[in-house]
Amino acid sequence: MKSLEEISKKYHVDEHVGFALPNPLEELPLRYDPWISIAKNIPDLIENGELRAEVEKLPMISIDGLSGHRQQRLARLVLGYITMAYVWYKGDEDVRKVLPSNIAIPYCELSEKLGLPPILLYADCVLANWKKIDPEGPMSYENMDVLFSFPGGDCTKAFFLTSLLVEIEAAKAINNIPSIFKALDHQDQDALQKALLHIISCLHNAKEEFEKIRGRLDPDQFFNVLRIYLAGWKGNSQLPDGLQYEGVSDKPEMFAGGSAAQSSIFQCFDVLLGIKQSAGEPSAAAFLQEMRTYMPPAHQKFLQSLESGPSVRDFVLSEKDDSLTKAYNDCVQAMVSLRNYHLEIVTSYILNPASRQSKKTAPSKETPEMETKGTGGTNVMNFLKNVRGTTEGALLKVD
Ligand code: HEM
Repeated sequence: MKSLEEISKKYHVDEHVGFALPNPLEELPLRYDPWISIAKNIPDLIENGELRAEVEKLPMISIDGLSGHRQQRLARLVLGYITMAYVWYKGDEDVRKVLPSNIAIPYCELSEKLGLPPILLYADCVLANWKKIDPEGPMSYENMDVLFSFPGGDCTKAFFLTSLLVEIEAAKAINNIPSIFKALDHQDQDALQKALLHIISCLHNAKEEFEKIRGRLDPDQFFNVLRIYLAGWKGNSQLPDGLQYEGVSDKPEMFAGGSAAQSSIFQCFDVLLGIKQSAGEPSAAAFLQEMRTYMPPAHQKFLQSLESGPSVRDFVLSEKDDSLTKAYNDCVQAMVSLRNYHLEIVTSYILNPASRQSKKTAPSKETPEMETKGTGGTNVMNFLKNVRGTTEGALLKVD
């Protein structure tokens, strides 16, 4: 990882938007209009009770007419939205166990081509689902929008775009990676310290961006509406055997739902700073490792390549220099602080609405376990506290 050019070309990590897809397309060739028109109208089609009939009427459209990565990513986004809407529909008991072949076949073929599972992922709904309103204007929440929405009004925009903007702020730190490796190569303490200070400021900016979520996203709308469409079919009691992709396989398949746990950026800092999630609870480490298989293959390779590079932590340990150790610890602390804030957010957006909901429906009972599971399928608080604990454990002792 010697230069930004290598990072961008080999690993598809952009200098400006990090792991996000730069300038996602909004349109596909004409023959894909039937897909686009359903995806554009999901909230209305669900409200009117027409969505499933419209999906079942779709012609079989081959993916051969899609050219280039950006068209393929847009098609995946569209098919992912349609699939989630078709399966979960109004979010009640009426769940579909079989995805019709006219969607399942192109979706699975395209997913295989891109090396991703056939379910809506963070790489689709966050990383490839954005546009600037004024193309000359800034990358700001006010000047941006999502390309497709689920029911729940502004919820889709608030959740996906806030995640994207957090991701982009944090990803600005990636531009330091070539100088970090160069500093390690030349045993250059000052250069490493400078790069670490820049990472700290990127992580602080990411947290500031994250804090804006409360003013944008309503907890009950998020919990009761948007979350329905992000759920997967792995470890989900509503689809205990998974989803059958008709015309592709006779057996149902299980895939985890979309979650920011599929974001490469936090894992990137863990690797870079030598925060070994594998040293924590085995199930938490296994989940994070599994989530890598839900990331675009180039980003998986990026993380692997970072892992095989020289260790920042070992160098800091060997130098025994107070100010370098402090800079390293401040980086780790910035990750702890992001994860602490994330835990607060999960309490406000999952635990509290779940308990409000269960008090309404069954006042004497505890919140059912399913309600407090993440869309990725984890037992939320245990998992997240564990990951935070391992992060804290990476802080170095100062004499
Ligand atoms: C309403 C806002 C949010 C909620 C309710 C939420 C919820 C969750 C849940 C439940 C998990 C556990 C995995 C799963 O089962 O899905 C998780 C993991 C994770 N989330 Fe979020 N999340 C939110 C926003 C964000 C944002 C904006 C980011 C940053 C872009 C983020 C980054 C992560 C990461 C990196 C993990 C993996 C655990 C870790 O590395 O600390 N989340 N989130």
